[in-house]
Amino acid sequence: MTDSISTSVDLAGEDVHWTPKDGLSYGSYLKLDDILKAQTPITTEHDEMMFIVIHQASELWLKLCLHELDAAIDCLQGGEYGPASKMLSRIARIQEQLTQSWAILSTLTPADYLKFRDKLGQSSGFQSHQYRMLEYRLGNKNAAMARVHGDSPAADAVRKYLAMPSIYDEALRQLANAGFDIPADRLDRDWTKPYEPSAAVEVAWKAVYTDVETHWQLYEIAEKLVDVEHKFQLWRFNHMKTVERIIGYRRGTGGTGGVSYLVKALDLRFFPELWTVRTSL
Ligand code: HEM
Repeated sequence: MTDSISTSVDLAGEDVHWTPKDGLSYGSYLKLDDILKAQTPITTEHDEMMFIVIHQASELWLKLCLHELDAAIDCLQGGEYGPASKMLSRIARIQEQLTQSWAILSTLTPADYLKFRDKLGQSSGFQSHQYRMLEYRLGNKNAAMARVHGDSPAADAVRKYLAMPSIYDEALRQLANAGFDIPADRLDRDWTKPYEPSAAVEVAWKAVYTDVETHWQLYEIAEKLVDVEHKFQLWRFNHMKTVERIIGYRRGTGGTGGVSYLVKALDLRFFPELWTVRTSL
């Protein structure tokens, strides 16, 4: 019976490339030397490594979200609904991955975190430029948030994203292209300003949702957007609850009230009429 149990893989006949040729290997292609050198705890506390890795992994996923979202917006502009829809689906999967990371972080107890929290000074996720760029590209145009980046190298990118149309602005343009009556001031405006919901836009989405066969492509994009927004809200909620569990009602290292600040963002909407239309259907 025990003969059938293997405790190591038999490499015989595998022709493994033990010394990869042409200068490219797994590690060199992925720049693992650089990536794996970038975890440098500033204390000797055991849990700080997990804290660093979760933040860094989240930033990598945010990077991919931005890559996909930029491309999805380009595709929408070119009327390529299929690829845009696929990219939005991928973003939603990445968001699931991001939200899952709170489960790991919640193994950090308040006592463990307090051992190194003071050493973090005023650094905070509030200063994540990629997070802010993602919010701007999704449509949360709160220009004041860009201030925290000062004249850092990331500030230009943040301000550039503030001034670009969001994916929702582009979706509204597609509604107009399809013949829906979208107010001109929603199609061409100062993109650095927050979007104001419009009754006419809700009417247009209602027409899409009540005749999905005719407007299948717009309907599909709308539902993908709702999916992304829903997942964004789940990330925010889980962040807020994890923070509450770990630091209670202390102020944040970024200077805000902490949980009370995070709660405020729970009511934000990137795509307002896609939510209100659900009541009016
Ligand atoms: C022990 C873990 C964590 C705690 C206690 C914590 C706490 C906080 C607090 C209190 C804020 C409000 C701003 C401030 O005053 O600091 C905040 C904001 C933020 N945090 Fe965290 N956080 C944690 C983990 C993370 C992780 C893993 C990420 C992943 C990237 C993250 C991303 C953010 C972002 C993007 C914001 C800005 C949110 C917004 O402005 O709406 N945080 N965090």
